[in-house]
Amino acid sequence: MTARIIDGKALSNTIKEDVAQRVTALKEKGLTPGLAVVLVGEDPASSVYVRNKAAACEKAGLHSEVIRLKADITETALLDVVLDLNANPRIHGILVQLPLPAHLDAAKVIETIAAEKDVDGFHISNAGLLMTGQPLFRPCTPYGIMKLLESQDVALRGAEAVVVGASNIVGKPMAMLLLAAGATVTICNSKTRDLPAQTRRADVLVVATGRPEMITGDMVKPGAVVIDVGINRLPDGRLTGDVEFASASQVASAITPVPGGVGPMTIAMLLVNTLEAAERSAG
Ligand code: GUN
Repeated sequence: MTARIIDGKALSNTIKEDVAQRVTALKEKGLTPGLAVVLVGEDPASSVYVRNKAAACEKAGLHSEVIRLKADITETALLDVVLDLNANPRIHGILVQLPLPAHLDAAKVIETIAAEKDVDGFHISNAGLLMTGQPLFRPCTPYGIMKLLESQDVALRGAEAVVVGASNIVGKPMAMLLLAAGATVTICNSKTRDLPAQTRRADVLVVATGRPEMITGDMVKPGAVVIDVGINRLPDGRLTGDVEFASASQVASAITPVPGGVGPMTIAMLLVNTLEAAERSAG
C-alpha cells in the first residue's frame, strides 16, 4: 500500500482565507483582531516560528505585535509585559513562545496570561475546560490535527488512537480532543514498555516525540492514519519528522509529510483562535 499524502499546506491556506474573510467582516464593525507574540532571547528556531506567526497574521489582516525581550530579562519584568498585554484593548491573543530560558518559570508566565487571551490554550483553566469537554481555546497543534483528520473523513468514534508523546503542548491536549471525538485513546511516553506493541494497535497514530524517524513502518498498523508532529533538522541539513516517512508510507493508508503536514496547520489555528478571541471580546 502507498499512503495518501495529507496536504496540510493546502488545508491551512483554505482556513487562512476563511479567517481573512471573517477578519474583514469584523473590521467593518470597527474591530481589528490583534495578536501579541512574546519572544524571550534569540533561539533561532523560535525566532523563525515567531516571524512566521507575525507574517501569517498580517497576511490575514490581523494586527500583530512581536515583543522581543533579552534572554536575561527578570521574571518580574516579563510578568509585567504580560500584565500590560492583558490590559491592552488592541490585543485579543497573547502567545509567549516556548521554551523560555531556564531561569524563568514557564508555568507561572502562562498562568499570568488572561485566560480569555490565551490563544495557545496552555493556561490551566483552559487545560481544565478542555479536559471537562467545554473548551474555550484548543491548543493550536492538536486542533490543527483534528482539522486534518476531519478533512480526510477519518472515523474517530470507536477508533483506536495512540498518541506518542505526553507534552502539555501536544500529546495531552491531543488525547483529550481524540477522546472527545469518541476514540479509545492510549498515551505513550518515554517509559512505555513495548512501544511497537502499542503503535501497531493504532488506527490513528499521532507522533510528537521530537526524536527523528523513531517510528518506522514496522511499528505502523496496515491502513493506519499517521500524523507526524515532529520537525527535526538532520546533520545533512534535511528536515524530517518523528516518523520514518519512506517505510511508514508503505504501510499507512494516509500520512502527513514533513514539512507541509502539521506545521502549517498550527499557524492557521492560531489565527482562528485569535479571531475567535476578538469575536468573543465584542460580546
Ligand atoms: N513552542 C513550540 N510550539 C509552541 C506553541 O504552539 N506555542 C508556543 N507558545 N510555544 C511553542
